[in-house]
Amino acid sequence: MTYNIAIDGPAGAGKSTIAKRVAKELSFIYVDTGAMYRAIALYLLRKGTNTDSAEAVSSALEEIRISIAYENGEQQVLLNGENVSGLIRTEEVGNMASKAAALPCVREKLLELQRELARSHDVVMDGRDIGTNILPEAQLKIYLTASADTRAKRRYSELREKGQNCDFDEIREDIIRRDEQDTNRTIAPLRQAADAVYLDSSDMTIDEVTERIKSLCREHKI
Ligand code: DC
Repeated sequence: MTYNIAIDGPAGAGKSTIAKRVAKELSFIYVDTGAMYRAIALYLLRKGTNTDSAEAVSSALEEIRISIAYENGEQQVLLNGENVSGLIRTEEVGNMASKAAALPCVREKLLELQRELARSHDVVMDGRDIGTNILPEAQLKIYLTASADTRAKRRYSELREKGQNCDFDEIREDIIRRDEQDTNRTIAPLRQAADAVYLDSSDMTIDEVTERIKSLCREHKI
């Protein structure tokens, strides 16, 4: 049996930062499912695939192989063997990922990879539908959120730190549009699982959120 912790929530809620920390402290692996959607999005962007056509996306998917590897404990995502981890953290790729993620064929493509990772390793897995759809039996589920303003501020600082030129209002709009897209799609929408613990991180530090999750782990005998 493996231990599975699912962390879902909207863009910029701090899921990856927190999930990485918790995974490290528990010696679990961290699985960033968003990166898998982003790798597919990068392929579609490079190819200029028309994402309004499910057939075009579906045939592009046949040419795509997504896998992950770990380098110094950091997840790397491979697109047909190419490590694209450094190329997928842009708003353009994020928006395309959100759009592509609404298509059933795209979700189907990643479902088994995600479940298999959780079957074979103790994982902290973050995404949008982990607690509701991918790992309904996870021993602990967290729904991590924060106000749209807080999330936009965090994303803005993150991008600036990486030296990317960006506009705060645009990022805030992107975040709101992405929330809408991820929440209102018909298949596996972003939703809090009935048995997930709701955590609003707007007024919490990374340490406080990490501590809270670690204490929930103890309560859940993880
Ligand atoms: O977490 P992120 O920003 O890297 O995710 C990019 C997009 O991928 C997100 O807007 C929606 C989609 N996604 C998804 O639909 N399901 C997941 N489990 C993870 C991401």
